[in-house]
Amino acid sequence: MTTGAIILYLLLLSHQTVSEEQVQRYVIGEKGENTTLQCLDQPVNVSSVRYRWKKDGAVVRTQNPSNPSEHHSILNNGSLRISGLLYIDEALYTCECQTNNGSSWKTHSNIQLKIAGGPTSISLDIRPATRLNNGTLFVDISSDVFFNCSSESYPSQNLTWTVENLTRDNPDRASGNQSHLEFSISKIQLKDQGTYTCTSQNTLSMTTVNKSQELLVYYAPERHPECSWEAGNESHVLFICTWNGSYPVPTMSWHEVYKKSVIAKGPTINSTSQTERLEIQVNRHILHDKEEVKCTGHHVTGVEKSCSFNLEIPYPLGDPLVTALEGSNITLSCSETHALPPAKTVWKKMDDVINNTMKYIVSENGPVYKLTIINVTQDDAGIYYCYSENPLGARELEVILYVKASADNGGAVVGVFVSILVMMIGIVVSVTLYSKRDRICIGLEFSHLDNDRGDILSLVDSDEEEIFSDSVSQLPPLTNGHATTLVEIHRIPSVDHDDNADSTEHTGQAHPDQTEAAQGPL
Ligand SMILES: *[C@@H]1O[C@H](CO)[C@@H](O)[C@H](O)[C@H]1NC(C)=O
Ligand SMILES: *[C@@H]1O[C@H](CO)[C@@H](O)[C@H](O)[C@H]1NC(C)=O
Ligand SMILES: *[C@@H]1O[C@H](CO)[C@@H](O)[C@H](O)[C@H]1NC(C)=O
Ligand SMILES: *[C@@H]1O[C@H](CO)[C@@H](O)[C@H](O)[C@H]1NC(C)=O
Ligand SMILES: *[C@@H]1O[C@H](CO)[C@@H](O)[C@H](O)[C@H]1NC(C)=O
Ligand SMILES: *[C@@H]1O[C@H](CO)[C@@H](O)[C@H](O)[C@H]1NC(C)=O
Ligand SMILES: *[C@@H]1O[C@H](CO)[C@@H](O)[C@H](O)[C@H]1NC(C)=O
Ligand SMILES: *[C@@H]1O[C@H](CO)[C@@H](O)[C@H](O)[C@H]1NC(C)=O
Ligand SMILES: *[C@@H]1O[C@H](CO)[C@@H](O)[C@H](O)[C@H]1NC(C)=O
Ligand SMILES: *[C@@H]1O[C@H](CO)[C@@H](O)[C@H](O)[C@H]1NC(C)=O
Ligand SMILES: *[C@@H]1O[C@H](CO)[C@@H](O)[C@H](O)[C@H]1NC(C)=O
Ligand SMILES: *[C@@H]1O[C@H](CO)[C@@H](O)[C@H](O)[C@H]1NC(C)=O
Repeated sequence: MTTGAIILYLLLLSHQTVSEEQVQRYVIGEKGENTTLQCLDQPVNVSSVRYRWKKDGAVVRTQNPSNPSEHHSILNNGSLRISGLLYIDEALYTCECQTNNGSSWKTHSNIQLKIAGGPTSISLDIRPATRLNNGTLFVDISSDVFFNCSSESYPSQNLTWTVENLTRDNPDRASGNQSHLEFSISKIQLKDQGTYTCTSQNTLSMTTVNKSQELLVYYAPERHPECSWEAGNESHVLFICTWNGSYPVPTMSWHEVYKKSVIAKGPTINSTSQTERLEIQVNRHILHDKEEVKCTGHHVTGVEKSCSFNLEIPYPLGDPLVTALEGSNITLSCSETHALPPAKTVWKKMDDVINNTMKYIVSENGPVYKLTIINVTQDDAGIYYCYSENPLGARELEVILYVKASADNGGAVVGVFVSILVMMIGIVVSVTLYSKRDRICIGLEFSHLDNDRGDILSLVDSDEEEIFSDSVSQLPPLTNGHATTLVEIHRIPSVDHDDNADSTEHTGQAHPDQTEAAQGPL
């Protein structure tokens, strides 16, 4: 029982010590095959001998060349040949010979014939799994998978399940003696992916048959796809959808989601691709402001997820009116946070894009675009454009720059200075005459002083304001004019960006003059 040969002869015991009844040989025949049972230990003079074979004690065949049988036949040397073995041929066979002069039959061979059948009809059942065109099965990750192998063998079989995966040292094994062998994997994982093989071995003939099945574990991405874009050439924009982390790769598509408010019904963007990154070149002419563009990912496991964004035309915001003092530097500022895909923003004068030169410093800090004009002259006065463009279109913020001659301004400063001085003297005198109070608080509005010319009067800044208040509280009476040196008239060099960032006013619309009221204790 130890070799894998189809027909196996095993000498159990030496014939000298064996009684006539004892089994001398084992012969294993394969069902359907032919076998020859040898008649050994014959008399020396073979030519004078007749043979017959008994099966389990009954004669099945006597040597008779004139009457050949399909199933059993006795060869010239006495061997019994059985063709097309059947399970019913399994028996103890005995060879007997008789000399020609009519002496009694003598037993020469006792042979136990065993018939082995199979393994046949080996079949695998893996559930729940889906079969691909190439025969490979796949299951969804985390599913409970049941494996069943069945095979037919006579008289018995040894079934084994193994998993062959290069990354696994020890194959999983399950063996049994029945007609089928089952096992299951609960919550199957990626590491369980591999080739599953069921081996069936006939316990008698040791004939081995196996059948393999490649099993893939599919999983969908856990996250949503990511929508992004890149500026293409002038007429196109590139929409990019990425959805990583799945096996096999998903299918993705881009499409426009039409809102009810959108009247125009443009062509639908739709591209289907078997990659984790889907890029599509979209002609900007088919894009419309406020439209939603969506990327939907489909995975074979049935998972569907999407990302989208709403297209927005640029909308640069900033202060439309700026006044600068001749000889100073002035910074114009605008911000563009609105556009989607993001806009390219530049400063322009007339139709020319302003580049960094000795005269101009162009800077970009996040969504804020700044233009600094160095040593402002009267020639710099005029209209500047903060020009933003994205694939949907372009919009510009118009900024008007006024330039004030420094001499005019000097005159204004002196005028205001004198006015304040006069008023303060008057106030202090009045207070001194009619009251003993040591704290005087008077609010003055200076905006009317030079409003039409864009001059701005303000206290220097908050820190100095504190100092100023303190100084006022200890303001000595009448004769001490030093307190007035803490008041200063200047132009606001740049606009108030925070106000504009929150503004929902239309681009280009003039804001109220930014003249601030100078209010504070004097
Ligand atoms: C068995 O023997 C028969 C003739 O008796 C022959 O036709 C057949 O091919 C043989 N089968 C095998 C498997 O050798
Ligand atoms: C064998 O038998 C034949 C005839 O049956 C006989 O002629 C021959 O002599 C015998 N040989 C021996 C060695 O006995
Ligand atoms: C008898 O003959 C058969 C076929 O001719 C052969 O296979 C077998 O080995 C022979 N047996 C003996 C004992 O010589
Ligand atoms: C038959 O022949 C054998 C030798 O071949 C001999 O030994 C035996 O005695 C004979 N038997 C009879 C009954 O003649
Ligand atoms: C069968 O197809 C799948 C997916 O197309 C592939 O991953 C697998 O390697 C293929 N198997 C064979 C044996 O070709
Ligand atoms: C496994 O397969 C065998 C043979 O096809 C079948 O008899 C048995 O019921 C199966 N087991 C299960 C749990 O389906
Ligand atoms: C079944 O086969 C396995 C592997 O080939 C072996 O380890 C096991 O001993 C066998 N079982 C029987 C009952 O033969
Ligand atoms: C073996 O398992 C690893 C995960 O542990 C998997 O990535 C790999 O694809 C598997 N190999 C095969 C041939 O399926
Ligand atoms: C997109 O294309 C796929 C196939 O390429 C098609 O099945 C689907 O209906 C299309 N979707 C739209 C909105 O046209
Ligand atoms: C204006 O900017 C230039 C260059 O940055 C600088 O050299 C100059 O001092 C600035 N002038 C004033 C008045 O701030
Ligand atoms: C600014 O530079 C661009 C190229 O970088 C050029 O096309 C443009 O004419 C320049 N503008 C001016 C005003 O020089
Ligand atoms: C500013 O420009 C004026 C006239 O263009 C020039 O005289 C003056 O030197 C410049 N000042 C600086 C700091 O560049």
